[in-house]
Amino acid sequence: PIVDRLFNASQAEVWLAQALGIDRTIIVAGDADLQSRVYDLAGEELNSALNLLLPLADCIVTVMGGKTIAKVAKKLNRSLSENRSLIFVPGRGALGGRVNTESNAVVQEMARATGGSYESLFLPEHVSKDAYRSLVRDPEISGVLQDISQSDVVIHGIGLASEMARRRGYDSVALARLRENKAVTECFGCFFDEEGHVVERIRQVGLQFENLTNVPHILAIALGTRKAKAIKAYMRNAPHQTWLITDEAAANQILNGS
Ligand code: G3H
Repeated sequence: PIVDRLFNASQAEVWLAQALGIDRTIIVAGDADLQSRVYDLAGEELNSALNLLLPLADCIVTVMGGKTIAKVAKKLNRSLSENRSLIFVPGRGALGGRVNTESNAVVQEMARATGGSYESLFLPEHVSKDAYRSLVRDPEISGVLQDISQSDVVIHGIGLASEMARRRGYDSVALARLRENKAVTECFGCFFDEEGHVVERIRQVGLQFENLTNVPHILAIALGTRKAKAIKAYMRNAPHQTWLITDEAAANQILNGS
């Protein structure tokens, strides 16, 4: 029944997609800042959207990390593997610290939940220029990067700039610079301002923002009132084939022009 519903967007979902300049939005009830159940609803919608969008074949699903994606991952199920074979690929290396929200951990959870398989990218997320050059030539890593470049779908969260900077261990000088550059959100290692311009980026091995345009389907998931500004900023330059899964609280905040 949810898949049927996906063919019939509500008026608010159509308005929100138009306001953000993307193909589709899916709005679940509630406010994730107040109700943890909202993550479950978003996870169920993610499962349905994947079922609808993915071909019945061998599929590569590239997954970024973060708390939101880690929570919704639990709601994927085996219906996704019924007539296709899924391989989940981490979109970036480790962030350090919160091991269970890293993309390496999330792909394992998604593979377990769906009966699919997964790959790993065990390396630091942020690397020096020299290290980057040699790492991308490593056969194991370049194999994963090759799969990322052939993704059928990318699943990602939309971070708050200050929170993501702190998670990445930015010191007070770097945090002040980000504030000065008016960074609002972070995705794919890029910090974006309100206008959707990249104001700073982290050199990371994995999926690059610029390569997203070649990916057939992109599912962004961001929930709760506190994510409204970040969603709006990121979507300014997001590829049109992005589908956003969000909640009523964030959607209302965006549609009411805040
Ligand atoms: O890069 C952005 C993060 O995926 C957002 O993570 O869901 O933990 O806020 P979050």
